[in-house]
Amino acid sequence: MNKIAILYGSSGGNAESVARQVQDLFEGAADLFNVREVTLEEIRDYPYYIVGTSTTGMGDLQDDWEGFLPSFSNLDLSGKKVAIFALGDSASYSTSFAESMKVVYDEIADRTTIVGQVPDEGYTYDDSMAVIDGMFVGLPIDEDNEYDMTQERLAKWVEALKEEFL
Ligand SMILES: Cc1cc2nc3c(=O)[nH]c(=O)nc-3n(C[C@H](O)[C@H](O)[C@H](O)COP(=O)(O)O)c2cc1C
Repeated sequence: MNKIAILYGSSGGNAESVARQVQDLFEGAADLFNVREVTLEEIRDYPYYIVGTSTTGMGDLQDDWEGFLPSFSNLDLSGKKVAIFALGDSASYSTSFAESMKVVYDEIADRTTIVGQVPDEGYTYDDSMAVIDGMFVGLPIDEDNEYDMTQERLAKWVEALKEEFL
C-alpha cells in the first residue's frame, strides 16, 4: 500500500483517463481505485487522498461518487490531506464549470485539510461555485475544449502535490 489513494468516478472515461495520468505522474507512489467498486476497508488507512470526479447534471457529482461520497465522508479524515480534481466542459456548461469538486469540498472541508487549490486564471468560464476568492477548490480539467492543456495542468498540479504528500 502506498500513502496516496486516487479515488475516481467517471461516466464516459475522461476522469478515469485523467486519474491514470495522475497516477503515472506519481511514479509508483499512488494507488488507483474506481469508486464504483471500491470498499471502505481498502482505502481507510491512507493518509492522503486524491478525489477525481466528472461533473454531470448542472454542477452535480458523477453518479458513482453520488453513492460513495457519504461513506467516504464518514471516514475519520482528521489529520489527513485531500486534493480534488474535477472534469468539466467550460464551453457547454460555462455557468457550472467543474462544480462537482465543490460538492466534495462542501462535504469534507470542515473535517480535513484540502490541498491542491488552483488559481482560476487561464480558464475561460462564466461562473462556477467551485471558485472561492479566485481559486478553484481543486484542479479543473476540460477534456472537451482544452485537452491540449491537460498534460501541462496535471504536471504542474502533481508537482505541487508532491510537496504536500511525499
Ligand atoms: C449530462 C451532462 C451534464 C454535464 N454537466 C456539466 C456541468 O454542469 N458542468 C461542467 O463543467 N461539465 C458538465 N458536463 C461535462 C462533463 O463533466 C465532461 O464532459 C467530462 O469530461 C466527462 O467526464 P467523464 O467521461 O469522466 O464522465 C456534463 C456532461 C454531461 C454528459
